[in-house]
Amino acid sequence: EKGNYRHFMQKEIFEQPTVVAQTLGSYLRRDDYSVALPQFDFDISSVRRLTIVACGTSYYAGLVAKYWFEQFARLPVDIDVASEFRYREPVLEDGGLALFISQSGETADTLAALRHCKEEGQTIGVVVNVPTSTMAREADLLLPTHAGPEIGVASTKAFTCQLAVLAALAAHMAVKRGLMSRAKETEVVQHLLEAPACLNAALDHDDDIASMAHLIAPARDVLYLGRGQDYPLALEGALKLKEISYIHAEGYASGEMKHGPIALIDEDVPVVVIAPSGPLFEKTVSNMEEVRARGGKVVLISDAQGIKDAGEGCMATIEMPKVHPLIAPLVYAIPVQLLAYHVAVVKGTDVDQPRNLAKSVTVE
Ligand code: F6R
Repeated sequence: EKGNYRHFMQKEIFEQPTVVAQTLGSYLRRDDYSVALPQFDFDISSVRRLTIVACGTSYYAGLVAKYWFEQFARLPVDIDVASEFRYREPVLEDGGLALFISQSGETADTLAALRHCKEEGQTIGVVVNVPTSTMAREADLLLPTHAGPEIGVASTKAFTCQLAVLAALAAHMAVKRGLMSRAKETEVVQHLLEAPACLNAALDHDDDIASMAHLIAPARDVLYLGRGQDYPLALEGALKLKEISYIHAEGYASGEMKHGPIALIDEDVPVVVIAPSGPLFEKTVSNMEEVRARGGKVVLISDAQGIKDAGEGCMATIEMPKVHPLIAPLVYAIPVQLLAYHVAVVKGTDVDQPRNLAKSVTVE
């Protein structure tokens, strides 16, 4: 039931603080601030290489997680969309862990990739939202997200719950590999446990986002830019917008703008820049200035500091709470989801059942 919400997607966006807290609750221990994964029969510290495979939004969760597995666990990560992975004869090391991410647990391409990896002797990890799904049944290491049923075709709460599980897994692997001290683990767990409150603070900006949606709705094309772990968020923002509002949108790594896409910039192409303040901020702002110098209209999504430093001259700004970088991808998912949602509402499209899309893609 939709309750007081207009659409399932809207309801699911607003459920995120609760379901992320639920999901974190089953991977993090509050009594001693440690990460606790389900027991399984495989020595995770022996993994030398991680292979991540997924489709769509779930793939973007994997892209974010790649930063975490590299940064915390110093693990080499190979990641691909399932439809490409399956047919490129990937090289899989003995004793490797292959990780599949899926809301439905039924996506045909992802399932085919999973079965291929199983045949090749990989240990199969599955991050999945439907506990009774095919992928859940075929997993060696089952890592459930506790997002509850996701009805809206565009994935929202499943994404942030996937991120929560993946962050816990990356921290766990770092601990097992001897790369994360007890003190650091405590700190990471504390930051993760701050996520639900920060998601709530992000949701408080719903009205601001609703009131600027009319600036994006008339556009034919929209670009999203992000750097580092915010780059996958740019891809996710663009995917959400095209799925439900039918506006053509592309996500780019901020630094790639000048290698081509900048040719598209004029006053009719809004550019959404996802840039929390921090070490990468200045670099992204200089890419944003390149856009502005060509007449581009920028929507800056940042925190108060970032908006103070770089918000002047933007068409609009969306203020997020100041958060630890580890949870920034979860928090910044909210404004990109809400922006797509409100633009679709302005355009009057069918938000929960966009044309040509099915919730679960069971054909290859
Ligand atoms: C985007 C979306 C799709 C799915 C993709 C994978 O909003 O919903 O891109 O993310 O089809 O689906 P699952 O996660 O069920 O494997």
